[in-house]
Amino acid sequence: MFSTLILNAQNLLCFGTCVVLFFLFFNSYNKFIKNIKIVKTMICLGIESTAHTFGIGIIKNRKILANVKDSYTTKKGGIIPQKSAEHHVEICDKVIKKVLEKAKLKSIKEIDLIAFSQSPGLGHCLRIGANVARSLSILYNKPIIGVNHCIAHLKIGKLLTEAKDPVLLYVSGANTQVIALEGGKYRIFGESLDGGVGNFLDTFARHIGIGFPGGPKIAKLAEKGKKLIEIPYIVKGMDISVSGILTRLKQLYDSGKYNKEDLAYSCQETVFAMLIEVAERAMAHCNKNELLLGGGVACNKRLQEMAKQMCKERGSKCFVPANEYLIDNGAMIAWLGLLEYDTGVRMKIEETEIKPYERTDDVEVVW
Ligand code: ATP
Ligand code: FE2
Repeated sequence: MFSTLILNAQNLLCFGTCVVLFFLFFNSYNKFIKNIKIVKTMICLGIESTAHTFGIGIIKNRKILANVKDSYTTKKGGIIPQKSAEHHVEICDKVIKKVLEKAKLKSIKEIDLIAFSQSPGLGHCLRIGANVARSLSILYNKPIIGVNHCIAHLKIGKLLTEAKDPVLLYVSGANTQVIALEGGKYRIFGESLDGGVGNFLDTFARHIGIGFPGGPKIAKLAEKGKKLIEIPYIVKGMDISVSGILTRLKQLYDSGKYNKEDLAYSCQETVFAMLIEVAERAMAHCNKNELLLGGGVACNKRLQEMAKQMCKERGSKCFVPANEYLIDNGAMIAWLGLLEYDTGVRMKIEETEIKPYERTDDVEVVW
C-alpha cells in the first residue's frame, strides 16, 4: 500500500515534469517563431545625424520604403557643429512627416524599431539624432538600437549590390577609410592620417572661391583640365596623407601661374590614385576580390572609373550603390538596426549614449 503510494507519487512527479517541460518547450518555441516572424516583417526607422545631414530612412523586408534627408549647408566657411545641430533640430519634424508620408505610414505607431547613428561623428549633431530616437522610443514604446555609421555604409552597400564580402573604400567629408571584415571584426586597413578627402576637397574649393560642397565643383572643373601638374603623392603603406597636398595646391593657385581647371584635374588624378592604390593593397592583403564604394566622394565619376579599372585589371568586381546611398542616409542606419535586432541585440535607453570617437574596429560584431 505504502509502496503503491510511492509509485503513484513517482508517476505523478514524472507526469508533472513532462507537463512542465512541454509547456517550457512550447513557450520558447512560440517565442522563437514569433521572433522570426517579427524580424522578417519588422518596420525599422533609422535616423542619421553624424554631421551636416539629418536623414531618416524606413525599411521593411529588405525593401527601402522611404529615404528622406535635409542637409545643412554654408555659403562661406566650413561646417559649424553647433549650427548644424540647430539645423537638425529645426527640420527634424518636417523630415519625420515627409518620410512617413513617402512610406505610406500613418504614424510612428506602425514602426517596430527605432535605430540611430550612435557613432562616430560630431557630438553636437549625434546628440540631436539620439534625442529624437529616444523620444520616439519612449513616447511610442518602441525598441531602440544605436549603430556605427561606418559599418552602416558597408552594410547598405551589400544590401543594394551583389557584393558578398567586400573591401569598402569609404570616402566622405570627415572619413577616409579602407574597411573589411576580418577575424570577426570590421577592421580599418588603411585611412587618411590627417583628415578626410571630402574635407580636403571642400577646403581647396573654398580657397579658390568656388563654394561648398567643393567635391562636385572640383569634379566639374576637372573635366575641363588638360595639364597634369606635379603635386605630392603621399601613400604610407595602406594609409594616405592629404594636408601637405592641400598646402601645395594652395601655393600653386596663389602663385597665379596655374588655372583652376588644371589644378582641379591634377588634384583629382593624384589623390584618387592614392585612394585606389591603398584600396588595392588592402584587397591583396585580405585576399578579397570585391571592392565596394561608399561616402559622398564616391559619387565622383572619375573615382568610380579608376576603381572599376583597377578591379578589372586584377580580375575583381567593383560595386557602386546609387548616389543617394553613397552619401549619408537614414536607410543605412535602419538596415543595420534591423540586422542587429535580428541577431538578438537589444539596448536599454541608458545604453544609448553617443560615442563620437568610436572606431570601426571597436565594435563587437555579433550579427
Ligand atoms: P561623414 O564624414 O560623417 O560620413 P559627410 O557629411 O562628410 O559625413 P557625405 O555626405 O558622405 O559625408 O559626403 C560629403 C562629402 O562628399 C563632401 O566633402 C563633398 O564635397 C563630397 N562630394 C560629394 N559629391 C562629390 C563628387 N561628385 N565628387 C567629389 N566629392 C564629392
Ligand atoms: Fe558617412
